Amino acid sequence: TRIYVPIDSTALSLGAEKVAKAIAAEAAKRGIAIELVRNGSRGAFWLEPLVEVQTPAGRMAYGPVQPKDVAALFDAGFVNGGQHALSLGLTDDIAYLKNQERLTSARIGITDPLSLDDYIAHGGYEGLVAAFAMSGADIVKEVTDSGLRGRGGAAFPTGIKWNTVLGASADQKYIVCNADEGDSGTFSDRMIMEGDPYVLIEGMTIAGIAVGATRGYIYLRSEYPHAFATLKEAIRRARAAGWLGQDVRGSAKAFELEVRLGAGAYICGEETSLLESLEGKRGIVRFKPPLPALQGLFGKPTVINNVISLASVPIILARGGAYYRNYGMGRSRGTLPFQLAGNIKRGGLVEKAFGLTMNELIHDFGGGTLSGRPVRAVQVGGPLGAYVPASQFDMPLDYEEYAKNGAMIGHGGIVVFDDTVDMAHMARYAMEFCAVESCGKCTPCRIGSTRGVEVIDRIVANEQRGKNIALLQSLCDTMLNGSLCALGGMAPYPVLSALNHFPEDFGVDKTEAA
Ligand code: NAI
Ligand code: SF4
Repeated sequence: TRIYVPIDSTALSLGAEKVAKAIAAEAAKRGIAIELVRNGSRGAFWLEPLVEVQTPAGRMAYGPVQPKDVAALFDAGFVNGGQHALSLGLTDDIAYLKNQERLTSARIGITDPLSLDDYIAHGGYEGLVAAFAMSGADIVKEVTDSGLRGRGGAAFPTGIKWNTVLGASADQKYIVCNADEGDSGTFSDRMIMEGDPYVLIEGMTIAGIAVGATRGYIYLRSEYPHAFATLKEAIRRARAAGWLGQDVRGSAKAFELEVRLGAGAYICGEETSLLESLEGKRGIVRFKPPLPALQGLFGKPTVINNVISLASVPIILARGGAYYRNYGMGRSRGTLPFQLAGNIKRGGLVEKAFGLTMNELIHDFGGGTLSGRPVRAVQVGGPLGAYVPASQFDMPLDYEEYAKNGAMIGHGGIVVFDDTVDMAHMARYAMEFCAVESCGKCTPCRIGSTRGVEVIDRIVANEQRGKNIALLQSLCDTMLNGSLCALGGMAPYPVLSALNHFPEDFGVDKTEAA
């Protein structure tokens, strides 16, 4: 019997390693032959460690399993799909998973992350093989036609970025993957890297072939040791099987790939400081222009894309741009792996086409708050994303709709707060975060963020409240318009959204705030 126990960080933190050991030991004790597969996580985190058993009817799920449950599971005949108090039925029938539209994360939790055979058996490398037969311009056109936009948060059209690099002439070009996933409540990059690393490797290889880049780097945050180990081993195996190297699978195209670790600075997720860091320098933001697409890593034309952007490319090449474009709404095409975190009952990964609402995400999928109290606000798009109040939860999740309302979808991280949250405290936290993480290059961010914390403290303490609110608004205006990069430029979003939607938390009534 084949039994799956996830090796994903979330599952591991909830005890998956001990569960795997307990299952192996119990099977040995009972003389039952099992094949233990360490898969990625399905992304239903409240069920982790989620153990699955292959049966003729499909994979049966049990969870959350703790080592103390293992003997009873064997007693109940779970190796043949037997019923037990922890039975969840067929994994594919779990509503949370069944109601998703998984394109980018299609294989996560299903395959053995490091098995190339498994990857290929589940449609892996179809995109790259299709790309071998196409010109660089045609590959770029397919990606442009798919409507894919940068999933790191800025939502810049991926095809247009690639086209700039394709059009640049240079002796060397690079593909850089931004895997410095630093936003609060986000983990989709990590899940891809731990649960389906070959899809990222394939996406980067396609990008390389498309724009004429023969080298790639994955810039990974050091806080992801499991992803680091998995990526390194996956790259080794891909190279050994000829999927990386001087002549990728006899295509006469070369592509080499390495992983480099960051050192824990949030700002190194900003593309130009990432490049500085990758070059071995301190992570300080560069001026733009020149765009990295023209003068990026070591001054050469460089595609920098987020993990999810690159991991979405293989399916676009395998099924065609039109297939991907068919999902979504408006100018937000395709799907986004949303991440439910914070005070939420059913946290995890929810990949859906753009256009669903926050209500559907946090109530239908998430089941409301873990505390059982009403949801008061969600922060969408990281620590610099706006707080969205419950009154706006019917707004469709679409880049333009969110922007119209002063919010952003960003990397799709959603952090839920119940009605006990103190929004003035959250606003202060955002400014403090900016002060701590500022690279120091420009004044509005370096100094403004520290002054911002002080002004919020004065508002809350009711020291000349009206005057200090005006001062905070003016400071936010300066930071929004005068900062060199998105760190200082976006810190005002959480601050102003907290003040505008929840003035009472600052001791202000709505009319005063307006
Ligand atoms: P941006 O809007 O300046 O640039 C977006 C991308 O398009 C960049 O890669 C830029 O080089 C490229 N680009 C722009 N014009 C181009 C052209 N004509 N040709 C080729 N490429 C072109 O935004 P930025 O500063 O790169 O990113 C800000 C975003 O980062 C925020 O909106 C936020 O959502 C996100 N973010 C994500 C985090 C995460 O952990 N995923 C953390 C912090 C912020
Ligand atoms: Fe550095 Fe902040 Fe200026 Fe960005 S906004 S360049 S992080 S000082």
